Amino acid sequence: MRIVSGMRPTGKLHLGHYFGVIKNWVKLQDEHETFFFVADWHALTTAYKKTSDLKRNIRELMIDWLTLGLDPQKSILFVQSRVKEHAELHLLFSMITPKSWLEWNPTYKDMKYNLLRLQDIALQFKGGLRDVVREFMNMIPYKVEDFERFEEHLLDDLAETFISALFEGEIEPELLKNLNVSKRDFYETDTYGFLGYPVLQAADILIYKGQGVPVGEDQLPHIELTREIARRFNHLYGEIFPEPEALLTETPKVPGTDGRKMSKSYNNAIFFADTEEEVKTKVMKMFTDPQKLRRNDPGRPDLCPVFMYHKLFTKDSSKIEQIDRDCRSGKLGCVDCKRMMLEGLEAFLKPFREKREEIEENVRDVEEIFLEGSSKARELASKTMEEVREAMNLG
Ligand code: TRP
Repeated sequence: MRIVSGMRPTGKLHLGHYFGVIKNWVKLQDEHETFFFVADWHALTTAYKKTSDLKRNIRELMIDWLTLGLDPQKSILFVQSRVKEHAELHLLFSMITPKSWLEWNPTYKDMKYNLLRLQDIALQFKGGLRDVVREFMNMIPYKVEDFERFEEHLLDDLAETFISALFEGEIEPELLKNLNVSKRDFYETDTYGFLGYPVLQAADILIYKGQGVPVGEDQLPHIELTREIARRFNHLYGEIFPEPEALLTETPKVPGTDGRKMSKSYNNAIFFADTEEEVKTKVMKMFTDPQKLRRNDPGRPDLCPVFMYHKLFTKDSSKIEQIDRDCRSGKLGCVDCKRMMLEGLEAFLKPFREKREEIEENVRDVEEIFLEGSSKARELASKTMEEVREAMNLG
C-alpha cells in the first residue's frame, strides 16, 4: 500500500505526538511505501503573520522525526513547499470543489461560529486582558492567588493558551458569554487559504495516489473530503485517483502533566527535546489525585495522570499492580510514586536523547535528506501531474 501523511511544523514533538501518530508511521515504513512531509504551506493557513520561526521549526520537526525513528532509507521524507506540484494540483482541485463542501468542514465551521460569537461578545463586554484570563483561570487548575502575581507577559501567554483552547473547541460556548476576547485573533483565519486547507491536503495525498493516510482522528473529515474530491475528479475526467482511507490506530492515552490532553499550549507537555533535568522538574510537579493531600491519604490511581504514565513506562506489570494497591491503601506517597515512574520514563526517553545528539552533530544531513526526499517525491508528483493535465486537456 502507498502511504502518505504530513504534519505541520508548529514546534517540538511531545509524548502525545509519538503515541498518537509517529509510532505508527515508524512501523508503517517497514511494511509499505511511505511518504512523510513537513506541511509548511499548511502551517501558513493559520500562522502567516509570523514566519520568522518557520524555517527553524521545519528543521526541528525533521530532527524530531529522525530521532523518533523515521528513516530516510525507508521513507521519503520531504518538505511540502519544495514540491510545487502540490500547489498546481491544489489549484486544479479548487476548480472542481464546491464551496459548500468546505463550509461544512468542522474546523471551518468552528472558526466561523467562534467569529460570530466573538463579534457578539465584543459588543457586550469591554473588560481587559486580565478579565479574560481571570475567567479562563477558573477553568484550569491554578490557584487564583498564583494568578494575581503573574506578570504581564505571562498573562499574554495565558491569553494565547485560552484562544487556542477556544479554537480547538475545548471551551464551552456558554462560558464565552462572560469573556472579552480579542476579535483580531479570529479574523486572522478568515482567509481564502484557511477555507481551502482540505483542498490542499487532498492534493498532498492524491498527487502520490496515496491509498492509506495515517492520521489522528481529528483529521477524518479532511480524509473524507479527499475521497470526495478524488471521486469528483475521476467522474469528470477519468479514473486517475484512488480513494484513500484513513489509517487510525488504537493509541494509549497520554495525558499532559496536569491530567488534561497533552498540548504545547497548555504548558503540560513532555518534549523529546527536554533535558533529563527538565523532565524531572515536570514529573515532580505533576498533578495527582486531588483528594490525596497527605502522604498517607488513600489515592485513586484511575484518576491520576502519574499512574497512567506508570502503565506506559513502568515495564514490570507486577510492579504496576503493587503501585496501584499501595496508592489505594495510602501506603505509597505521590513523591515516591513519581520517582519510580520517572525511572521508567527516563529509560524510555534516554535512547532518543542520545540519538538526537548524534543527529544534531550532523546538521548538514538534514538538508541532504530534504533535497533527496523532495527530489524523489517530485519524480512521482510530476508524473501524476502529466496524467492530470492530459486528462483535463490543458495546453
Ligand atoms: N492537516 C494535517 C494535520 O494538521 C497535516 C497534513 C497536511 C496532512 N497535509 C496532509 C496529513 C496530508 C495527512 C495527509 O495534522
